[in-house]
Amino acid sequence: MAKLGEIIGTDKLRLCSMDFVRVAGHPARARRGHSRMHDPTRLLCRLDELPLGGCREFRLGEGDWPLRGFVVRLSDGVRAYVNRCPHLHYPLNYLPDEFLTYDRLLIQCTMHGALFEKESGLCVYGPCLGRSLPSLPVRVDADGVWLAEDADVGALRLRYV
Ligand code: FES
Repeated sequence: MAKLGEIIGTDKLRLCSMDFVRVAGHPARARRGHSRMHDPTRLLCRLDELPLGGCREFRLGEGDWPLRGFVVRLSDGVRAYVNRCPHLHYPLNYLPDEFLTYDRLLIQCTMHGALFEKESGLCVYGPCLGRSLPSLPVRVDADGVWLAEDADVGALRLRYV
């Protein structure tokens, strides 16, 4: 029985092996990681649309049941939270992008008035006192705020939608 190298030629066999390594090895993974870094479906907010101290709402995922969340920009970075109150799991806001108290110091749930720290998502007043908003990992660059590469949108939707 002829060996594979004899049928297609040794040089071609070597080329095939190198192609396999290229597909299965680090360069392919690096390409996947690179594309995920700037995957537009993971963009939560453009940075120039998020003023210091401000909030922006976002949705991740297609269809009727996206993951809903919001970002808040602080002096030391950006936080992202799932838009889901720990009290009764309702969305916190009534109006688009409106998550803060009148003085802009705290996050507020419009349903029953729970108040949360912007820095940690911890509830400091209201029916869910001591519980926290679910936080989401983010990466920030010059283009915007992105869901971190290692966060699985599908798993987050299953958990929070
Ligand atoms: S649902 Fe948010 S305080 Fe009740």
